[in-house]
Amino acid sequence: MGRQGPVTRVEEGRAPTRQAGDAAADSAHVTIRGLTKRFPDAIVYERFDLDIPRGKLVSIFGPNGCGKSTLINMITGLIPIDAGEILFDGKPLRDIKFGYVFQNYREALFPWLRAIDNIQYPLKLMKLPKAERLTRTERMVAGLGVKIDLNRYPYELSGGQQQLVSIMRALVVEPQILFLDEPFSALDYEMTLFMRDQLQRVFVETGTTTVLVSHDLEEAVYLADRILLLSRCPASISDYVRYDAARPRSDATLSQHDFVRVKAHCLEVFQREVRKG
Ligand SMILES: Nc1ncnc2c1ncn2[C@@H]1O[C@H](COP(=O)(O)OP(=O)(O)O)[C@@H](O)[C@H]1O
Ligand SMILES: [Mg+2]
Repeated sequence: MGRQGPVTRVEEGRAPTRQAGDAAADSAHVTIRGLTKRFPDAIVYERFDLDIPRGKLVSIFGPNGCGKSTLINMITGLIPIDAGEILFDGKPLRDIKFGYVFQNYREALFPWLRAIDNIQYPLKLMKLPKAERLTRTERMVAGLGVKIDLNRYPYELSGGQQQLVSIMRALVVEPQILFLDEPFSALDYEMTLFMRDQLQRVFVETGTTTVLVSHDLEEAVYLADRILLLSRCPASISDYVRYDAARPRSDATLSQHDFVRVKAHCLEVFQREVRKG
């Protein structure tokens, strides 16, 4: 395995083949080298290397507790690392605008602010004038085709609507990198399907480098350009799989050979990993 970690391309009618050069062909937006992270009870990462390619959507899939949320928290600088480096365009963290949609959306919004004020909060932190904050927010809301009443408070919104507000709050800053940690896990199926397609739409329109943690393999593959399969703690890359189906993807995608094949491959790698434990 090279420094990029393995990359598997699952091709029609062929066994998966590793393409060491593929990851190198993509320009890396985030480069992680020699990352080590320990908690009192667990070594979560030990000399971990990963490249996140620019303008791609990477899904992260792995066993519960393997370190997915911890990885995002380290990349965004919310928690410190013990050793190694995380570089953006080859440089240390500096003035990078992240969007982060947290796993627990119920605790992510300020309950005392209306939805619209939650969304605009980061623009306030950026000290943008009021008129510009409003213009940017209105543009984004119109672009997404959102139909909820943004004058409501979080408690007046459904779970799906609250999560939509969280996503809009992450998007309004026009982030260079967008992180979503199991963003749809608490939503009903209908809302999940809607939100997946909203996310895909945003991705197609903006081309923002996106990292999505998902516990739903169908979703992980459906949305991804690359599926990062992690092992149990200390997490290592079990596989880094390409999925190049054209966008926009739709319900029809789910029954295409390529999709079924990639998903089956990911499941096999995951099962192998889980059985080890
Ligand atoms: N703040 C923390 N203090 C101690 N242990 C933690 C902390 N955060 C995470 N862990 C441990 O690190 C491991 C990875 O956690 P996490 O990144 O949340 O996993 P995942 O998101 O993949 O389910 C787990 O064993 C978890 O118990
Ligand atoms: Mg998690």
